[in-house]
Formats: sequence, structure tokens, C-alpha cells
Amino acid sequence: MGITYDEAQRIFHLDAGDSSYCCHVAGDGYLAHLYWGKRIRPANLSRLISPLIRAFAPNPDPVNILFSLDTFPREYPAYGNTDFRHPAFQVQLENGSTITNLRYAAHRILKGKPKLEGLPATYAERDDEAQTLEIEMVDALTGLKVILSYTAYEAFNAITRSARFVNEGNQKLTLLSALSASVDFHDADYELLHLSGAWARERNIERRPLAPGMQSIESRRGASSHQQNPFIALLRECASEDHGEVYGFSLVYSGNFVAQAEVDQYATTRVSTGINPFDFTWLLEPGQSFQTPEVVMVYSDAGLGGMSRTYHHLYRTRLCRGEHRDKERPILVNNWEATYFNFTTDSLVKIAEIASVLGIELFVLDDGWFGKRKDDTSSLGDWVVDTNKLPGGLGELADRVRSLGLELGLWVEPEMVSPDSDLYRAHPDWCISVPDRSRSVSRSQLTLDLSRQDVRDAILDMLMRVISSAPISYVKWDMNRHMTEIGSAGLPPERQRETAHRYMLGLYHILEEITAAFPHILFESCSGGGGRFDPGMLYYMPQTWTSDNTDAIARLKIQYATSLVYPSITMGAHVSAVPNHQNQRSTPIEIRNHVAMAGNLGYELDLTKLTEPEKRTVKKQVATYKEIRHLVQFGDFYRLLSPFEGNETAWMFVSEDRTAAFVSYFRVLAEANPPMGRLRLKGLDPKLDYSLVKTGQTFGGDELMEVGLNAPYLLGDFQSATWRLEAKE
Ligand code: DGJ
Repeated sequence: MGITYDEAQRIFHLDAGDSSYCCHVAGDGYLAHLYWGKRIRPANLSRLISPLIRAFAPNPDPVNILFSLDTFPREYPAYGNTDFRHPAFQVQLENGSTITNLRYAAHRILKGKPKLEGLPATYAERDDEAQTLEIEMVDALTGLKVILSYTAYEAFNAITRSARFVNEGNQKLTLLSALSASVDFHDADYELLHLSGAWARERNIERRPLAPGMQSIESRRGASSHQQNPFIALLRECASEDHGEVYGFSLVYSGNFVAQAEVDQYATTRVSTGINPFDFTWLLEPGQSFQTPEVVMVYSDAGLGGMSRTYHHLYRTRLCRGEHRDKERPILVNNWEATYFNFTTDSLVKIAEIASVLGIELFVLDDGWFGKRKDDTSSLGDWVVDTNKLPGGLGELADRVRSLGLELGLWVEPEMVSPDSDLYRAHPDWCISVPDRSRSVSRSQLTLDLSRQDVRDAILDMLMRVISSAPISYVKWDMNRHMTEIGSAGLPPERQRETAHRYMLGLYHILEEITAAFPHILFESCSGGGGRFDPGMLYYMPQTWTSDNTDAIARLKIQYATSLVYPSITMGAHVSAVPNHQNQRSTPIEIRNHVAMAGNLGYELDLTKLTEPEKRTVKKQVATYKEIRHLVQFGDFYRLLSPFEGNETAWMFVSEDRTAAFVSYFRVLAEANPPMGRLRLKGLDPKLDYSLVKTGQTFGGDELMEVGLNAPYLLGDFQSATWRLEAKE
């Protein structure tokens, strides 16, 4: 149960759900990795470490030529003494040396899970939900202490890891890299899976066999990014959606990261992840400490589906916080694709009037309500209502929207400043920049320097003022550029390479303050769609705008792949107009709705332009979503058919007590005389009978899972169907 320490064998044994993780203090104080996988009873696994003379494997102890760190499985490898594989950290001493030698010093086992200072992390609500092991490793020469932290959750197959560096010596130390965790796998018979993409094409599933050498994904953009998500998994080669072993690594961080797997000469695999060491250093004065972000490591022997459901449960209930965590999320209409920058109070209210008739619950005013923001070239930073567009301000808009029975939501982009703004004219030094270099713009904007307290204070002041200026119940927090010319006017030269991480710490500080000040507000994060869809942001804001691409067909892949790690309740999904604004594709309103129903449903189109039949359809869709919303947002998610593997996609939601389910099926392109497909369902109770809500037909849960439903015979491109199932008494 939990975490135990075998004093005689010096073995730590961690049990987390159906998984175990073991490590060992070897005779000389090096910390060895022994095991991570399916749950086992405590065993003397130190036998796995077999000393052997290997050519070109140097020996730290000249009298023990059987021992080399190069062949030793390690928990948190240091650099410089016989291990040629990638280290988990590197520290520069005052004399220029970059070598450290960590040995075990002490450990403690704690109930629950301590907070990570200034960083987002999963949490335990009660002390009996989790145990935490802290192992202190010390470099005797410098006095550097590294505290390795491991939390084992009782109910989840999840172990979280992080490291804390404390300079207990009397010289300045410079961290050149400080990853969150490193795990040495005994072999290399795995495939690497990651989620890669671009703006409007976020998170494609990439899967490839491991090869000798280093394979890595990373972000150097100052944000977790559209291009790579801070997540990788190792899969046994035979592992599939429902079978086989999978090891997931999800980094709770929103900035530059690296996630990598190195296969060495003996076909062992070292996986490590954390803050990207590229352009990163951190000066640790004597007495100072540095906390790495947390990595959430999930083991599944039930394929990717098993891994995903562990992440979903853990992130929905023990990463997301606040009063909206367990509440159903409102169906919204957002005016962005309806009006872009061109609106007035009256034109917005017209949309809200129809929204109210259709049963929509929240009206979100997107970009363009402030300063002189007629397009995206100005005014970020000048968060004062544009009274040409909104003569009565946000107050009048709120009154009119609320009198229709809808709540009001507001878009902000507080991390940015336009060069054409009063804020920039007054404080040109407040943005990320480097002396004597020009400042590259992106979407005509610069990044505010959140590493500075004065800038953070000003942003917080501004946000407090804007958010409390009207009865706002939802905030969409956007961020639309990546960092270039990274440097801070607030930091001395030797700390310039701390800027990107200090920015993240500053952002997290602001998010903590603002979400605590407005606990009733539902916050949604966004970065040009899903450019910062990561666990770090979810800690503060329990939902994310999944992608700027609202095309239903593109969304099949985006939402399917996002679901590998992130629960449906965290995904914003909107029905938009056709031809679609991102790719000009026209699809029926049914499929647009069926895809968007798999997340937090919204509409992002000019409702005043809908025909009467379309309005009737949307009204029905909204009513149906309200009936299944709890199932979608709080149920278990099962992927049935992958859009990455063919013309069809299917997925389903099952309620926690398995008495209700909602199944969606999508066929992208029409096919003449197609084969008859079967849809085998998952996650039902085999002993229960379920009836289809539409037809009343009844089937056994076992029958639905082993035999399946007939896939519908649909003609035409972009077709979809859904089924609701209810268990019979
Ligand atoms: C990017 C977001 O992803 C969009 O939804 C929209 O809010 C625009 N920014 C507004 O500028």
C-alpha cells in the first residue's frame, strides 16, 4: 500500500493504483531505477543491477572496475562521472566545471502531496489519497542538494515527479539544465508517440519505433505551443487502443519544454522531460533554491485508452480546480467568427436575442471591444472600452444580454502589448526585448515582460478593473504570439537566460491571483486556439479553446488526438458557419454539431443569418446537448475508430455508473456500395441491458461490446450519427 522503504535492501516501493515503481540506494549512494510497470509485491529487485566489465565503460571507483554509471539504471542522472547518456541536469561551478556527483543523503515519506512553490501541479484533496516520497541527494563537493519528489496516487495509475535544487554550499551555482524526471527503461522495444502540429492543425498523433540515439520533441517558442504538446508516451510495439503497455509522460508546464527518449548502445532507453535547457540557465546563489515543474507519469496495461482515462480522471478531478471543476459548463455563443472586429452593442444583442431563443446560456464578446481596435494592429494594453462600438460600455451590454437570460463573457489578451498603444508609448521597456536589437512583431504585437513585478502589478490592476466593471461570468484568456529576442530589462546580464521561465512563473502568479479574486468566473485559456493546451494552464483555467480550426472534419483529428491526454470537459468545441473560415469546407450542420458535442459545446457564427429550419435544428441540438452534457463532461471517454486510420471516426461516453452512454459515429467521404461496418462499443456493463433512446430497441451490454451495432448506411460526404443508450431497470 502506498510507499514503503525496505531498510535492509534499501529499496523504495511505490504502489499507485494498479502500478508499481521501485528504486534503490546502491551501496555507494547512487540512486538506481529498478522497475515501473504493472503492480507487483515488494521484491528484492536490486538483483537486477549486475556489475560487469564493459569496454569503454569508465569506473568512478578505481578499485571497483565492475562498476560504471554508464551501465547503471539511474533515477536522476548527473553529468560528468562515467555516464555518457543524457543527464537529467547540469550545474556549472564558479571554477567553470560542470560536473556534479549526487549521492543519497536522506529520505522521508509524507502523507498527501505538498504544493509545488509557484508552479501548477496535481494535488491531493485528502491526505489518504496519495503519499509522497522525498529523496535528498547531495553533491558533497559543492553542497548542492537535489530533492527528488515522487507522489503515488492511491486510486490512479499515476506517479508524479519533480526535483528541487537547493544551494547549501557557499559558491554560486548555475543550473544549465534541470529536467523534472528521468526514467531508465531496461530495453528499447517501444514506439514513441507524441502530438505534433501547427496553428489550426494542432496535435496530430505521431507514432514511430524507437531507434538508437536521441529522439526528442521540444518547444523553443516561449509557450508549450501548437507545434508540440508537452507529452510523450512509450508503447510496447504491439500496444493498441485497448491492449498492451503504455507509459505516458505529461509535463505540467506551459513554456519551453523538452521530452526525449535516448536509446543507448545496450538498447536501454532513457526518457526524460522538463524545461528545455535550450537558452536556459538559472543562477543559484548560496541559500537559494529552484523548483522544476512536475511530470505526471501514467502506466497502462490496457493500451492508450487505459492511459487516457487515467489522465482524464486525474486532470479533471486533481489538476483542474475551483468551483467550476465539478459544474456543468455553459453552452455559449461567441461573436468572433460572426463579426470579427466589426460590431456594435445593437448587433451583438441581436445575436444574443436569437441565442436566448435557441437555449444558449452564455454570450461571449471576443476581441475588438477596447482601445481603437478596429483590426489586430493596435490597442493591446489599452483595456478601455471603445465607446464608438459600445456606447453604453460593458455595463449596458451586460444588462441587455442578461435581460435575455444569458450570462456575459469577455475576451482579454493581457500578456500582450501593441506597439500602437498608449501603454507601449508610456512603457516601451515593459516588453520582452534585448538591448540595442530591434523588436520583432508577430500579429503586430509584443510580449509583456511578466518576469517583472511592476509589469505584473499593472496587468493585475488592469484585469481587476476590467473584470469587475460589469457582471462578467466567463473570461476567455488569449495569447497570440511566441517569444523572440528574449530578454528582460529587469534582470542583470547573468540572469538574462532565466527570462523565459521567469515569464512563466510570472504568468502563473497572475493566474493564481486573478482566479482567486474571481472564484465565480469560469476561465477558458486560449492561444490562437490550442497553442497552450497543456496541464499547466488547466490548473488555473479548467477549459481551453481547442483550436482556431472549427471545421468539423479537421476537428475529428484534433479532438481525437487531444483526448489522448485531456478530458472532454477541458475542450472548447464550437459549431461555426460554412464554408468554414479556416479551410472553406462546407459540411452539414448535423456533423458540425455532433463533433462539437464531444466537448464544451458552443456556437461561433452569426445566428441572425441562420434560416428558420437551421434555427429549429440548432434549438434541438442545444436541447439534446443539455440532456447529455453531464455524460459528456463527466463520463468516461472511449475511442472506437480513429480518424488517423481511415474514413470513419467513432467515440463514446459512458456514465460513471455505466447506466448511460452516448455514441457518435462519423463518415468523412461518401463511398458507393460500402462494406457493412460494425461498431463494437466499450465500457458498458456486460450484465446490463441497454435500450436505444430513439428506437426503444434493447441489447445486452455484452452483445453491444462483443457483437456491436450496425454502422449506419449513410449517403453523401460528411455524415454522422449518434445513439443514446440507457440501461433498463
Ligand atoms: C485567437 C483566438 O484563438 C480566436 O478564437 C479569437 O479569440 C482571436 N484570437 C481574436 O483575436
